[in-house]
Amino acid sequence: MAHPTRIAVTPGDGIGPEVMAEAIRCLEVLRAKHRLNLEWTRFPWPSHAWHQEHGVCWPQDALDQLREFDAILLGALGDPGPADDPERYLLPDSESLAPLLALRKGFDQWVCERPARLLKGARQYLADDRARDVDMLVIRENSEGEYVGQGGRLRKGTPDEVATQVEVFTYRATERIIRYGFEQARLRAEDRVRQSRTRTFQTHDGRVCESQVCLITKRNALGHWGDLYTEVFETVAREYPDVATHHELVDAACMKFVQSPWRFDVVVASNLQGDILTDLAAVLSGGMGVAPSCNLNPTDPTVPSMFEPTHGSAPDIAGQGIADPTAMLLTTARMLEWLARKDPALASAGRELFDAVAADLEQHGGPPRGTHDIGEAICKRLQP
Ligand code: IPM
Ligand code: MN
Repeated sequence: MAHPTRIAVTPGDGIGPEVMAEAIRCLEVLRAKHRLNLEWTRFPWPSHAWHQEHGVCWPQDALDQLREFDAILLGALGDPGPADDPERYLLPDSESLAPLLALRKGFDQWVCERPARLLKGARQYLADDRARDVDMLVIRENSEGEYVGQGGRLRKGTPDEVATQVEVFTYRATERIIRYGFEQARLRAEDRVRQSRTRTFQTHDGRVCESQVCLITKRNALGHWGDLYTEVFETVAREYPDVATHHELVDAACMKFVQSPWRFDVVVASNLQGDILTDLAAVLSGGMGVAPSCNLNPTDPTVPSMFEPTHGSAPDIAGQGIADPTAMLLTTARMLEWLARKDPALASAGRELFDAVAADLEQHGGPPRGTHDIGEAICKRLQP
């Protein structure tokens, strides 16, 4: 038998373990039903609980241990909650979330994909009816930019203190993320043609395309990297004449995400600007409870990519069994689809999971059910 596809399961903190339990139940059903050659190992780290026992968030060789896997499925990291318990074991964010950034960096997961599609049944926050058609893919540069962690504090604790936080933008990382955006735009257009739901986007010179990439910068104030991004975008775009191009400044993009989000298809943004825009985009798709995310390394198949919902550990509702597992399950579906490059049998399992989650949302959207009830309803749909 071929080598199994191996998943490292890291539930993390807060609602992480609660939503992960439902993801694992769905994976169990899919594995049994399709005899998938899939294995997973659960890790108690990174987490607050591990820190409480060992004084660190994860073992020193954590990255080496995880390197052996084909994917990492992560629940959430951060404040473990419950938020109204002042006695809970709590670390500073910079410490509890450091493993997340170390994983992205350590495995060069340079793409962060955050789709924002308003599925039927999901809560529509915008009053305009056209918001029903929101279907965009925000691609966040995930390896550098504002997140390189360079800088420091001089004369700390004195009135003369100076803090520097350096942003680094390389040609290499810029080119690969922009090219990735164009490739995704093409794939999305092809998908839509297959599903007879073609969309059209106008180019500046009046042509009509079936997909679009919108580049986000703040080039009017942050001109150095803004100009680099703009130039690379223009160069790469020449290779994709079938894809319409667009540019927005990040502040205007915030406005237009609310005003007319249905006009966006693929959006490419820097690490921090993509981070901020994707909380907004999550709400356009029905809220944090339904917003999936993944951190991909499309260039090096020997390191694992990481799949985690956009939401955090939600300490305000942790431990109550009321967290929505939908985001976690859509993220798990994307993981299976991604892993199909190793084992093609996983592609249909991923699609099945996506369809079951979407069908559940369409049927039940409205009054909230508990985490477990939602997971169970979706498992039932998956059962043979
Ligand atoms: C996210 C989160 C993280 C980020 C935090 C927790 C460091 O907000 O995944 O969007 O900023 O990348
Ligand atoms: Mn974020």
